[in-house]
Amino acid sequence: MPATIVTGLQWGDEGKGKMVDHLAAGAAAVARFSGGANAGHTVEHDGLRIALHQLPSGLLHPGVLGVLGASCVVDPVALAAEIATLEAAGIDVAGRLAVSSSAHLVHPAARLIERWDEESLGGDRVGTTGRGIGPTYVRKYARKGIRLEDAASPSRFRELSAAYVEECVSSPRATAGEIRELRAAEEAFVVESLSLVDRAGDVSLLLNELLDREGVLIAEGAQGSLLDPDHGTYPFVTCGPCLAGGACLSLGIGPTRIDEVVGIVKAYSTRVGNGPFPTELADATGETIRRQGNEYGSTTGRPRRCGWFDAVLASYAARLNGCTWIALTLLDVLTGLPRLRVCRRYELDPDVDLTLFETGARLDRHVPVYEELPGWTEDIRGMREWNALPENARTYVEYLEELVGVPVRAISTGPGREDVIWRK
Ligand code: GDP
Ligand code: IMO
Ligand code: MG
Repeated sequence: MPATIVTGLQWGDEGKGKMVDHLAAGAAAVARFSGGANAGHTVEHDGLRIALHQLPSGLLHPGVLGVLGASCVVDPVALAAEIATLEAAGIDVAGRLAVSSSAHLVHPAARLIERWDEESLGGDRVGTTGRGIGPTYVRKYARKGIRLEDAASPSRFRELSAAYVEECVSSPRATAGEIRELRAAEEAFVVESLSLVDRAGDVSLLLNELLDREGVLIAEGAQGSLLDPDHGTYPFVTCGPCLAGGACLSLGIGPTRIDEVVGIVKAYSTRVGNGPFPTELADATGETIRRQGNEYGSTTGRPRRCGWFDAVLASYAARLNGCTWIALTLLDVLTGLPRLRVCRRYELDPDVDLTLFETGARLDRHVPVYEELPGWTEDIRGMREWNALPENARTYVEYLEELVGVPVRAISTGPGREDVIWRK
């Protein structure tokens, strides 16, 4: 699998970090292709548990090169802190990180603007992570953004940064406290951006040459397919591309170079932030899933909304990404639930039958139609053998596979790197 793209098929937090860490053994490079510090990818190995926000999840393997693509939005201050955390844990990042010189930088003004945007939406707010992601992409497409390559010229860079600060300061919304906070944060932004220049480069050239040498590349997606701005539940989406196609654009590699597209999907559903979620459980079962799955955001700590597996949604996401196979994660979390439900189609109004997912306004009126399957009580955490799984767990996996229409090759049974069942 020289070039593999890994993406989330739901609303994020599917266990991408854990699976990328698992798959990265023997890889030459792991490249994040989208988003920024809004992501939280948890990896667990050897007593270490780290939520990576901007750094690729393969870096826990010695010798793997980490890459950030052109479509990422990089917060230089948060990135420096994250590198320091890894280095304090004995993971040397120094010579192992390359950042696209075209990547846009997240200025502290973007976080302030995001706060204002969310406040002005009131009850209709998106429920963003507050990491300045949206305003940074907006500025990019308005052709006013600050890119890492701009930091190669320090005096010009300071001018660009100061201009953005002044734009914010002159807003009637800015309070004295916010202005003080922004001015204080700006200096660290400039300093860390200037020191990041050493890692800037032509990621397309680097990765195409790596693939020419038959080096293994894993392109790591962030967020999830239903948070994609084009194909997700707009406007309750993020602003960076979440689908496999985005990997080629961000990393500057052609689609013809891709060998595999792996969809990561939870054995149930979660969502953090606002927006439609047809199979959401606002009851004791939802609570049980949240507790057993420790479903609290890796970035913001917010409780995640929990619900049943939605096969209509997952097959939609598998199609958008062109998945060649699926890794089903967090199966162990369902242990002990007497009955499991799977949404296999929707009813609308109630006589229109929907087996294809829609993201438009009608989604609010979709009524999930469930199939009920028996659960299992045996503890399956950490299992590595398909045949060791209880029969009901195997039947559940096979049923999801049939509905989604893509082979489930791997099943994750715990948060640790080795907690994986390989099936075929
Ligand atoms: P990501 O954003 O897709 O990388 O996912 P997160 O790291 O935000 O959330 C997934 C959570 O589930 C993390 O706490 C992981 O450590 C944990 N996790 C991943 N796979 C499994 C699994 O198979 N079983 C259990 N119990 N936990 C898992
Ligand atoms: P990982 O990579 C889950 C959600 C936010 C919000 C919406 C927009 O860990 O799976 P943003 O700050 O991006 O403008 O917020 O997207 N969101 C995520 N939800 N996992 C993520 O990342 C997310 N990144 C953003 O909660 O609803
Ligand atoms: Mg996450």
